[in-house]
Amino acid sequence: MRKDVTAGPSILFLCLGNICRSPLAEGAARAAFDAAGIAAILDSAGTGDWHVGRPPDPRAQAEARRRGVDIGGLRARQLRRDDFYRFDLILAADHENLRGAKAIAPGDATARLRLMLDLVPGRAGASVTDPYYGDEDGFAETWDDVSAVAAALVSEARG
Ligand code: 4NP
Repeated sequence: MRKDVTAGPSILFLCLGNICRSPLAEGAARAAFDAAGIAAILDSAGTGDWHVGRPPDPRAQAEARRRGVDIGGLRARQLRRDDFYRFDLILAADHENLRGAKAIAPGDATARLRLMLDLVPGRAGASVTDPYYGDEDGFAETWDDVSAVAAALVSEARG
């Protein structure tokens, strides 16, 4: 028998390179929405263009795999102006990403723009730390943060 699937929100996860934090956020959210039986539209992008077309950082892929999620099929892309009409919500990993998004946002954008951790009780205004220049532990911390964001999104979508 087919599992009932509810129509969910459309959400774009945003970071700088789209190879560490936002693909992990997309992967965690895909897993959480799938488990909840909610058909959300999920994607990720970076404000920068250095890694366009590349798969997530191998350390990010390894961390996701360790948590049971395969993000190896994702490819980096840069944030575009039309994303501000295509998504209900754009969630930035940190304040720099938020500024980068605001810099190209059209005046009549329909997407709401927030920090990822604004959705997590007690973490409003906080950044998901960039693990790119650190060691593997940073990626585990990133996964924990983006999983909390994913859980908050699912609970909001359930109403
Ligand atoms: P992300 O991490 O924004 O979480 O994907 C970074 C990836 C690459 C660079 C910086 C941050 N970089 O400078 O190349």
